[in-house]
Amino acid sequence: METIGNVLISEQQIDDAIARMGAEISADYAGGELLMVGILKGAFMTMADLARAITVPVQFDFMAVSSYGDATKSTGVVRILKDLDQEISNRDVLIVEDIVDTGLTIRYLLENLRVRKAASIEIASMLVKEGLQETPIEVKYRGFNIPPDFVVGYGLDYAGLYRNLPYIAVLDEGNLP
Ligand code: IMP
Ligand code: MG
Repeated sequence: METIGNVLISEQQIDDAIARMGAEISADYAGGELLMVGILKGAFMTMADLARAITVPVQFDFMAVSSYGDATKSTGVVRILKDLDQEISNRDVLIVEDIVDTGLTIRYLLENLRVRKAASIEIASMLVKEGLQETPIEVKYRGFNIPPDFVVGYGLDYAGLYRNLPYIAVLDEGNLP
């Protein structure tokens, strides 16, 4: 049975990161209008908190992709389960993620969205796992770089659980196969 290990990032640290990221985004897009695209399900918390820290006019859309199933290793296979509701041509798009791990999901999304001719596409992610991107991905707005452990909480799940934790903790995989 897996258990929740050490708290890696506290609620207060998350709040501070959200405030910082929101200020950066608000400054960079000042005078413009933003389309935030949250990647379900994991990004729902980051999306909700970040949105409230942004002061420029913002619209919202969501995509759902599957890359992990219930396992803790990336398969490299990305499937779109839910596409955007609206067109993004000439829009300034901010993709919002919970975590960039191998980068396969975000790379696929970037390729997929680029052909739709957005004015710009940037990435905001609460977490970036260090050293795991096969080719570096520019995550312009990031909360924290973390070591390559499997983490849960603040939107991140293991087998669908723990997304509701208000902090981010390492999953103790001691007894997992
Ligand atoms: P990537 O394609 O390897 O970058 O993985 C991206 C997706 O895998 C994220 O959006 C998460 O849903 C999931 N993921 C990656 N690392 C973790 C983790 O440590 N905990 C929970 N989910 C993770
Ligand atoms: Mg996930």
